[in-house]
Amino acid sequence: MTQRKSKGGTSVPLIVGVLSLVLLPACIYSLENGLARTPPMGWLSWERFRCNTDCEGDPENCISEHLFRTMSDLVVSEGYAAVGYEYINVDDCWLEKSRGPRGELVADRRRFPSGMKALANYVHAKGLKFGIYEDYGNYTCAGYPGILGFSANDAAQFASWDVDYVKLDGCYSLPIDMDHGYPEFGRNLNATGRPMVYSCSWPVYQIYAGMNPNYSSIIQHCNLWRNYDDIQDSWASLESIIDYYGNNQDAIIPNAGPGHWNDPDMLIIGNFGLSYEQSKTQMALWAIMAAPLMMSVDLRTIRPEFKAILQNRKIIAVDQDPLGIQGRRIYKHKGIEIWSRPITPIYQTYYSYAIAFVNRRTDGTPSDVAVTLRELGLISPTGYRVEDLYEEVDYGILSPQTKIKVKVNPSGVVILRADVQPERFSKRPYNPIFYRYPN
Ligand SMILES: *[C@@H]1O[C@H](CO)[C@@H](O)[C@H](O)[C@H]1NC(C)=O
Ligand SMILES: *[C@@H]1O[C@H](CO)[C@@H](O)[C@H](O)[C@H]1NC(C)=O
Ligand SMILES: *[C@@H]1O[C@H](CO)[C@@H](O)[C@H](O)[C@H]1NC(C)=O
Repeated sequence: MTQRKSKGGTSVPLIVGVLSLVLLPACIYSLENGLARTPPMGWLSWERFRCNTDCEGDPENCISEHLFRTMSDLVVSEGYAAVGYEYINVDDCWLEKSRGPRGELVADRRRFPSGMKALANYVHAKGLKFGIYEDYGNYTCAGYPGILGFSANDAAQFASWDVDYVKLDGCYSLPIDMDHGYPEFGRNLNATGRPMVYSCSWPVYQIYAGMNPNYSSIIQHCNLWRNYDDIQDSWASLESIIDYYGNNQDAIIPNAGPGHWNDPDMLIIGNFGLSYEQSKTQMALWAIMAAPLMMSVDLRTIRPEFKAILQNRKIIAVDQDPLGIQGRRIYKHKGIEIWSRPITPIYQTYYSYAIAFVNRRTDGTPSDVAVTLRELGLISPTGYRVEDLYEEVDYGILSPQTKIKVKVNPSGVVILRADVQPERFSKRPYNPIFYRYPN
């Protein structure tokens, strides 16, 4: 089913300004703990399982060691680990409501009877990594003990449990204090000697409080951070996140790079709120945004078409591109958006690109978008090999003058990959005489 040949639908002619040739990543001093060189991938309980502590009434869905063991098993047996999903992350509601006699954190004794060290061992035995949740304030968002006053002890306790990743939320704390509190906990993690990915909620709470986050400090201390609202199970929530990252991209994008990432929150693909098209849109735009890919879905019951989206290796390769340059919205008009991300390979001064065409219109019929590569900023005279990352459409090698036409479903996406070609005239047949007698 080629998308180029289809007729009908709304034609949206457009002209995109030519991008600057090479977008150099900003030269910044950032956290170098050797971790998260590409955006972390894994599974996180929050969006789908929330703070369900009712293990008597709902034993299969409550926050418990049983749930995390089950999801670890499925991440491996259902092929998610093979495509890169690695972390199994506990979110809020794993704790007892009070600390132990020596001030230590205690996992809920009924729901995690084997303790967190045993759970970490289980996850590690599967070849996966283990993440945990805490909060910088006096309490976690759901009211369990926070780390305020216990920062060094709690970091050491996580290290003793062989934790690989810590998400530190920001409820019940003062946003003004975060400028020293988040770095302090980061130093305490470092001092344990155990490499642990450090996920911060520092900027989002400061933005809520009307402050301007100091991103140059944030990237020095955190491997990833939340900039905006928690994702909820709806297209409206996803749209608001897409708009936030698009509307604030000039301030946000320069902070991303290997070891330090903006986090637009979990993938909600396979749950109740997104259609098939909308799910494809989230996956494509998260890859364009170099976002962490943390699934929050019931892997026991996910439908095969959503699993296929989450396991799309071509889109995951865009997300995990080693350059680590976050993409941007380059066009927005009448409900049509175009997002673009520079990726490898690079030839001379030209990047390759992932390009996502998003249809935010609600008029019920697919929209045609026609644009030349040059208008998208793809101007290498050697041309680009262009392919669709969801459909089996190979456009072959195209020159910058070529006009491509895609048909984008309502609330859906078409994502292309354009690999810059290394040789000029690469479509010309090989000519041995020419190469034997160069002048
Ligand atoms: C945290 O708890 C301490 C002790 O009760 C209190 O003094 C402090 O104001 C609390 N901090 C916040 C941000 O609520
Ligand atoms: C601690 O920080 C130093 C300096 O940035 C870094 O080289 C080292 O890898 C860090 N260690 C851990 C365990 O994070
Ligand atoms: C932001 O953080 C950097 C690095 O810690 C610091 O040098 C700078 O003074 C801070 N800027 C502001 C406005 O506080």
